[in-house]
Amino acid sequence: MPYAHITGWGMSVPEPVLTNDDLSKMVDTNDEWIRARTGIRERHIARDNEFPSTLGVNAAIKALQVANLRPTDLDLIICTSSSPEYFFPATACLIQDQLGASKAGAFDLLAACTGFIFAMNMAAQSIRSGSIKNALVVGTETLSRFMNWKDRSTCILFGDGAGAFVLQASDQPGGILSAVMHSDGSGADSLSLPAGGARLPATEATVHDGKHFVHMDGKEVYRFATRVMGHAAHEALDIANLTTDDIQWIIPHQANYRIIESAARYLKMPLDKFVINVERYGNTSTASIPIATVEAIEKGQLKAGDKVVFVGFGAGLTWGALTAEWSGPLPAGRAVHPEQYRRLARVRSLYRRIVRIIEGIIFGRES
Ligand SMILES: CC(C)(COP(=O)(O)OP(=O)(O)OC[C@H]1O[C@@H](n2cnc3c(N)ncnc32)[C@H](O)[C@@H]1OP(=O)(O)O)[C@@H](O)C(=O)NCCC(=O)NCCS
Repeated sequence: MPYAHITGWGMSVPEPVLTNDDLSKMVDTNDEWIRARTGIRERHIARDNEFPSTLGVNAAIKALQVANLRPTDLDLIICTSSSPEYFFPATACLIQDQLGASKAGAFDLLAACTGFIFAMNMAAQSIRSGSIKNALVVGTETLSRFMNWKDRSTCILFGDGAGAFVLQASDQPGGILSAVMHSDGSGADSLSLPAGGARLPATEATVHDGKHFVHMDGKEVYRFATRVMGHAAHEALDIANLTTDDIQWIIPHQANYRIIESAARYLKMPLDKFVINVERYGNTSTASIPIATVEAIEKGQLKAGDKVVFVGFGAGLTWGALTAEWSGPLPAGRAVHPEQYRRLARVRSLYRRIVRIIEGIIFGRES
C-alpha cells in the first residue's frame, strides 16, 4: 500500500490588514478586549477583486512549485471552504480551471473550520487505496463577505486567506499516519449561516434580518472547542501508536489563543510545541492550519522527520485530528513554471468557451 506524503505547501493572504484599532472605529470594541479574549491583533481582508478561487490558486501554485509538480500531474483537487465562491459550481472546479489541471477530478468538501483535516484525510485515503497518485488540497476563505460588520461578537474573529498542500503517493514510509473525524449535528445552530440554503432561501426579509451573515453562540462554541481539541489529538496519536512525547509540533486550528492554551493544558504539553499565529490572521477557518504550517516551515520550526499533529474544530459541529511524519518534497520531481501554466490555463479555458460558442452557432444551441 503506498504512503501519502505532504510534498508541497503554499499560502496566500490578501494584502489589506484590519487591526483591532480599525475595528474599534466600526463597532463598540477595543484592542485590549479583543486581545485578552482571543489573542487576535489583526486580520487580512480580501479586496473586491479577490475571491476564494483566486487566493486558492495563488496558494496552490506555490504548493505545486514546492512539490515540483505540474498542474496536469494532479489527479484530484479537493477544495474546502466555509465561504465558497458559489453554492455551485464547486470552488474546486474554478481552481482546477485556473490552474489548468486538466486531468484532475475536483470537488468541494464542507466541514467548516475542520474542513482541511477532513479533506487531507480524504486525499490521503485515495492515495493509500492506490486509486490516485497526486492530490491538491486547498482551504480558502473570504469570510469577510459574510460578516455582519455591526456585530462585535463575530466580526472581530475572522480573517481571509488560503493555504494548500500537495499530497503524493510514495513507497517511502511516513506521511499521513492516522486521522479521526467527528461530527455532532445537534450543535448545528451554535455556528451557522442561516439563510441562502433550501431551508431559508434568499428573500428581502432574510436580507433585512441579516440572516446571510455568520451567526454564533460564542460561549457554546468555546465550551465545545475546549472539550474536543485535546481529546481528538489523543485519539489520532493512539491510532498511530504515538504519544505526546513523540511529537515535535501541534498545529491547531487558529480560532482563539485561549482555546489553544486549554488544549495544551489537556495534553500536558508546553505551549511552545504549538504553532500559533492567530494574532496576525484571526480565524481563517479552513485556511488556518495550512497557513500556520507554511509559516512554521518558513521559520525553520517544522523540519523533515518531525512528527506533527493537526487538530481542528468548527461548525457542524465537526472536529478531528490527523498525525503525520513530515517528509518534504519527494526526490523525483519535475521542474515547473507556474506562471506559464497559469497563462496556458487561461488560453485553454478561453479556447473551450470559444468552442462552446461555435457549437452553439452551428447546432443552434444556446452557448
Ligand atoms: C467570542 C468570544 C471571544 C467572546 O468571549 P466571551 O468571554 O465568551 O465573552 P461574552 O460573549 O461572554 O461577552 C462578555 C461581554 O463582552 C461583550 N462583548 C462581546 N464582544 C465584544 C467585543 N468585541 N468588544 C467588547 N466587548 C464585547 C459582551 O457584550 C458581554 O458584555 P456584557 O457582559 O455587558 O453582556 C468567545 O466566546 C469565543 O472565542 N468563542 C469561540 C468562538 C470561535 O472560536 N468561533 C469559531 C469556531 S471555528
